[in-house]
Amino acid sequence: MNKTPVIIDCDPGIDDAMMLALAFSRPELDIKLVTTEAGNLSTDKTTYNALSFLTYINQNVEVARGLAHPIFRTLEVAEDVHGEGGLGNVKWAEPTLKESKRPAIMAIYETLMASDELVTIIATGPLTNIGALLLAHPEVKPKIKVISWMGGAAVGGNMSTTAEFNAYVDPHAAEIVFRSGVPIVMSGLDVTHKAYITREEMAKLRTLGTPFAEKAADMMKFYTFTQSQTPFYAPNFEEQIRVHDVCAVAAIVAPELFKGDNYYVEIELEGRYTTGTTIVDYTHKTGKKPNAKVLHSVNREGYIKLFFDACTTIGQQLLEE
Ligand code: RIB
Ligand code: CA
Repeated sequence: MNKTPVIIDCDPGIDDAMMLALAFSRPELDIKLVTTEAGNLSTDKTTYNALSFLTYINQNVEVARGLAHPIFRTLEVAEDVHGEGGLGNVKWAEPTLKESKRPAIMAIYETLMASDELVTIIATGPLTNIGALLLAHPEVKPKIKVISWMGGAAVGGNMSTTAEFNAYVDPHAAEIVFRSGVPIVMSGLDVTHKAYITREEMAKLRTLGTPFAEKAADMMKFYTFTQSQTPFYAPNFEEQIRVHDVCAVAAIVAPELFKGDNYYVEIELEGRYTTGTTIVDYTHKTGKKPNAKVLHSVNREGYIKLFFDACTTIGQQLLEE
């Protein structure tokens, strides 16, 4: 099988954890490295959570700690959504996986430069690490096949009326990445809000009958409640659960499930109320060359199958080990 070399950059975070489960359930992905940054929580917590969750799902992969705060803005975390610990108060495993001695940017740089093949970067947090990498080492650009990012939105926001969390936390990093010329697939709220799993559908998790699925169900139960407390976060979150970050992997392993178009995207950096907004030029008014494929539709049934197949695979694998 032809494997796709992948680097995952994330801020675990409940939906980041489920994204990791999907990624590591896919044999076609050759995951070289996982890096963390501050976003949902501090880097102490996101790094611990990555080590803990990857220990639990028995993956032996390098985990490198990333930057501890956005390039300019003050860090705003989302413990109200993900819980004080960051994984919905679910205890996965005491990490046996050790944090890499390489900081994230060095690890990403060295992994990219050492690769004979183009590398796919799956990013599901603020783009702080990737933005800083591209500033420090623009020579890596030709080594990146695509950045599949969960972030932004053509319409709406969840951290402000117009800004999505990952873009809001570090808009400057996002602007560096979107200006870089590196190919981007953007899974913004436009598509992640459509890639919902209903409460009823999510209840299937517990019927999978594995310890992994049980814990994942507990984490989803926490996430459903916290999301429902912020009604403007997404319409109908009581019933429609959005595991946003899973889209960034799904867009790579099952692109046929998605529809999107190429648009010019820039990031608002100075808006009094709109900083962090991803301005998607979907009317092509700017006349500027598109710099991202912005996803806007999903085959929800196919997406749900992907999600549950991943949970089944990981759960079964752990039982057999
Ligand atoms: O807006 C949703 C995004 O912000 C997800 O990546 C979630 O984990 C948070 O980081
Ligand atoms: Ca995330």
